[in-house]
Amino acid sequence: MSHGLVDSFGRTVRYLRLSVTDRCNLRCTYCMAEDMTFLPKSKVLSLEEMTRVAEAFVALGVQKIRLTGGEPLVRNGVVQLASNIAKLTGLRELVMTTNGVLLGQHAADLRAAGVARLNISIDSLRPERFSSLTRFGRLDDVLAGIEAAKLAGFERIKLNVVVLNGVNDDEVLSLTDYAVRNELDIAFIEEMPLGRISSAQRLSTALDNQSVQQQLAAVYALQPSSKHDPNAGPARNFQLANTRTHVGFISPMTNNFCASCNRVRITAEGQLLLCLGNEHSLDLRAILRDNPDALEASIIDAMQRKPERHEFDPKDITIMRHMSATGG
Ligand code: GTP
Ligand code: 5AD
Ligand code: SF4
Repeated sequence: MSHGLVDSFGRTVRYLRLSVTDRCNLRCTYCMAEDMTFLPKSKVLSLEEMTRVAEAFVALGVQKIRLTGGEPLVRNGVVQLASNIAKLTGLRELVMTTNGVLLGQHAADLRAAGVARLNISIDSLRPERFSSLTRFGRLDDVLAGIEAAKLAGFERIKLNVVVLNGVNDDEVLSLTDYAVRNELDIAFIEEMPLGRISSAQRLSTALDNQSVQQQLAAVYALQPSSKHDPNAGPARNFQLANTRTHVGFISPMTNNFCASCNRVRITAEGQLLLCLGNEHSLDLRAILRDNPDALEASIIDAMQRKPERHEFDPKDITIMRHMSATGG
C-alpha cells in the first residue's frame, strides 16, 4: 500500500488532472488567444501512454482523476481511455470537465465507461453572448449536452461559470436559477491570468467572487455545505436552502487556497505540472519513451519541487501557457 505522494510542504497529492488534448472545439476568450497553434500528434501522449501514467499515479496513492483538455471529448478514443482508467484498482473516482458541446453524442457512453461526475462549462444563457464568449459556440449544443448528461445518470453534474466583469456578471442569478431548476451544482470561478491574453483584457474583466456571493445572498439563503471540506479542493461550498443545488466559489485571485492543494496536472504532451500557476514541471513523455522503468521514482522525486503557491498577477502575466494547454 502506497503512503502517497507528499510534497515538501507536507501536502499529499491524491488528485490528478489529466489533459487528454490541447485542442478544443471552442475558443473562449479568457482561455485561448485568437490565433492558437496546436500540438502535432507526435508530441501528444498516446492513449496507452496516458493509461500507463494514470496507473503509475494510482499506484502512488492518487484516488481521483479528472480528464480535462482543451476539450476532452474531441480526443478520439477518450471513452475507451476513460474505461481503462476507471478500472484501475485503487482509483476511487474518475470525473471529467467538458464544455458540453459533444455530450449529446458521448454522455451515455462516458457514464457506462465509469465516469462518475461531470463539470460542464457554461458562462452565459444568452445565445448571442455565448457565441461571442466562445468565439463560435452554439448555446443550444451545450444545453442539449446537459440534458443528455442528466439522462445518462451521472452522480452529480456541476456547471462551471467563469465570471467576467462587464461581460456575464449580470447572469449570476439566471445561471443559478437554471442550476436550481435542473438540480445541478454550480461553481463561480475567478479568471486566472494564463497565456497570451493581454493584461488590459484581464484587468478589465477581473472580478472579486465576493461580489458574486453577495448577488446570490440577496436572493438565496446560503447554508454551510456538507461538501465544505477544507481539504477537498479550491471551492468554498454552500447549499442553497430548500434546493438540491450546491454552489461553490473558486477564488484563486482573492482567496488563496494553495495551502490545501492536493493535485498535480499532466498536459497533453506529458508534462507533469506541479502547480497551475508556476512553470515547475517534469517531462514524463521523455521518461515514458526513453526510460519507462524510472517513471514511478521520477514522479515521487518531482513532488519535492511542487511550489508553495501560485503567483498570479493580472498586471504582469508571466505564464505564457494557455489554460487550454494546461487542463484547468
Ligand atoms: P471538483 O472535483 O468538482 O472540485 O472539480 P475542480 O473544481 O477541481 O475542477 P474543474 O475542472 O471544474 O475546475 C474548476 C476551476 O477551478 C477551473 O477554473 C480550474 O482552473 C480551477 N482549478 C482547479 N484546480 C485548481 C488549482 O489547483 N489551482 C487553481 N488556481 N485553480 C484550480
Ligand atoms: N481562468 C479561470 N478558469 C478558466 N477556465 C478556462 N480558462 C480559465 C481562466 N483563465 C475554466 C474553464 C473550465 C475549467 C477547466 O477552467 O471555463 O470550466
Ligand atoms: Fe475550450 Fe474550455 Fe478553453 Fe473554452 S475554456 S476554449 S471550452 S478549453
